[in-house]
Amino acid sequence: MNYVLITGASAGIGEVFARELAAEKQNLILVARREDRLTALASELSVQHGVSVEVLAADLAAADGAEKVAAAVASSGWKLGGLVNNAGFGDRGAFTELSLERQLNMIQVNVASLVSLTWKLLPNLKKNQGSFIINVASTAAFQAGPNMAIYYATKAFVLSFSEALHEELRDSGVAVNALCPGATESEFAAEANMTNTKLFKAGAMSAEAVVKQALAKRRSAIVIPGLRNRLMVWLGKISPRLINRRIAGWLQA
Ligand SMILES: NC(=O)c1ccc[n+]([C@@H]2O[C@H](COP(=O)([O-])OP(=O)(O)OC[C@H]3O[C@@H](n4cnc5c(N)ncnc54)[C@H](OP(=O)(O)O)[C@@H]3O)[C@@H](O)[C@H]2O)c1
Repeated sequence: MNYVLITGASAGIGEVFARELAAEKQNLILVARREDRLTALASELSVQHGVSVEVLAADLAAADGAEKVAAAVASSGWKLGGLVNNAGFGDRGAFTELSLERQLNMIQVNVASLVSLTWKLLPNLKKNQGSFIINVASTAAFQAGPNMAIYYATKAFVLSFSEALHEELRDSGVAVNALCPGATESEFAAEANMTNTKLFKAGAMSAEAVVKQALAKRRSAIVIPGLRNRLMVWLGKISPRLINRRIAGWLQA
């Protein structure tokens, strides 16, 4: 019996991943800090879909957060068929005006814990046929982002790392995907102080649409959900970096 482990399953895109994967009859391990939400979701999904849903409350901003999650998986003997590294957050503002501690926590959650979980759980994933890893990056990964410098840099890391790992593991049976959503309806915008930015005012995709496209192409190296987002990324490839970073800064000024 295999499980898919989803980080950041208490809200937004991660919660929708849990709902869609449970509907596929996948057993789940849900990870986030808000245990009450995870427990409620686990009960709902196990009753609705007859799947086994485990809850691991963990703070992935803590240096040992990922280690504790991996240790719990190992000690429970859970076999993994999938890993969705989705937990993450952003913060809008000038680099020197934002809290250094919060920005370092962002690097820990968005990058370091994602790398640790991938490294520690890969041996388990490799043992099971058809396994996959989805690392949630962002369209922010494709250019620098003034007013969200660290967030954009973390997502550039996730995209580069995941794309490289996709190639390294091509013959291993484990598919690695970088999911690059644009603005998406979730708790993210409020958490990142972005609700009133031009980026979010221009409209956001539903988390359901993002996740459905992600799962349909889970064995691809990169998935950019939504035609508008794909067009923006394509335009970014044919225009100078100077223009791209100015536009990114303007969208979230
Ligand atoms: N929404 C967008 O516009 C958008 C666009 C591109 C990419 N993304 C990416 O999509 C991913 C999911 O974001 P979302 O939009 O679904 O945002 P969200 O609704 O705010 O959900 C974020 C999730 O991450 C978890 N999380 C945050 N800090 C954590 C920590 N220290 N330890 C453990 N879990 C933590 C939260 O759980 P707890 O608070 O319960 O811990 C929550 O479940 C993120 O990586 C984000 O960067 C979002």
